[in-house]
Amino acid sequence: MIPAARGAARARSNIALVKYWGKRDRALNLPAVGSLSITLDRLWTDTRVEFSARQQHDEFLLNGERAAAEATTRVSLVLNLLRERAGQRGGALVESTNNFPTGAGLASSASGFAALVAAAAQALNLRLQPFELSTLARRGSGSAARSIFGGFVEWRRGERADGLDSHALPIRPPRDWPLQVVVAVTSTEPKPVGSSTGMSRTLASSPFADAWIKHQEADLDQARSAILDRDFLALAEISEHSCLKMHALAMSAQPGLLYWSAATVECMQRVRALRAAGVAAFFTVDAGPQVKVVCEAAAVTQVVAALSDVPGVVQLIETGLGAGVEVMEPTAPLAPVGSSACA
Ligand code: PMV
Repeated sequence: MIPAARGAARARSNIALVKYWGKRDRALNLPAVGSLSITLDRLWTDTRVEFSARQQHDEFLLNGERAAAEATTRVSLVLNLLRERAGQRGGALVESTNNFPTGAGLASSASGFAALVAAAAQALNLRLQPFELSTLARRGSGSAARSIFGGFVEWRRGERADGLDSHALPIRPPRDWPLQVVVAVTSTEPKPVGSSTGMSRTLASSPFADAWIKHQEADLDQARSAILDRDFLALAEISEHSCLKMHALAMSAQPGLLYWSAATVECMQRVRALRAAGVAAFFTVDAGPQVKVVCEAAAVTQVVAALSDVPGVVQLIETGLGAGVEVMEPTAPLAPVGSSACA
């Protein structure tokens, strides 16, 4: 009997401080701009992959339920790249669990695809370098390229048409500058317009698209310097600038994309008031209504106090900066979709 090829991995979500918005190649998922992020310790995806010759099609279980066809197709697309490299053909059973709300602007696709490529590479016995995993994860979701690494991470736009130079790289490990993040969850509903659709609409219709691309390198330089100097205020200013600029760009698409709720705006105002009063905190917001507040450890209590009574805030998640993707010991065989765990 051929032993089943199993792999398992945990990858953490990340949030961009200098935002990625827009693609230069949709098929290869190549970004129009570079970006810079932090990996979050307490928000993760655990994924197990099992390839087997008797599995006809890929099956994808997300949070214990069969995933939508579109999500399974994206998973298969990435698995095909790994199967090609390994010269393997069998289908895979993929079981993924997020310990935080899925598809709601908390980067579950980032942690999800980073965990998927690491688990599948282990299952297929492919010994890939982290930058290669990053290139593969990018094909599932752009921001997943960054979740391969921990701490402060930069994803280079790359110049090559084949995308092989468009992967993430670590800038600084978490222990160098152990910032904290308070996530204000204002809705656990999936976002109305996904990031890929939002990005293509924006580049196709916003009058500001060229300006966005033109200024990105300067923003990245500023953020990188702020991180290397551990200059909190400089990082706060460039991060809020990049966040507001990305949303202004998205709003200027036709029809305009508006990812914020009233609670999002109120949280941003409160964070600005805290910083004006000398508290080391700044906000960032992705393609959803959640607000992520980055702060120094000494400021966490004040940030939590300032956000906890904002109408519409349903949950506050506190986290530090986390490690890159970790391969885990694949344990028991996976239960096929539709059968119970003990069948
Ligand atoms: O990786 P995607 O395709 O989900 O796009 C991520 C887009 C933003 O989260 C809004 C920005 C970013 O750089 O993560």
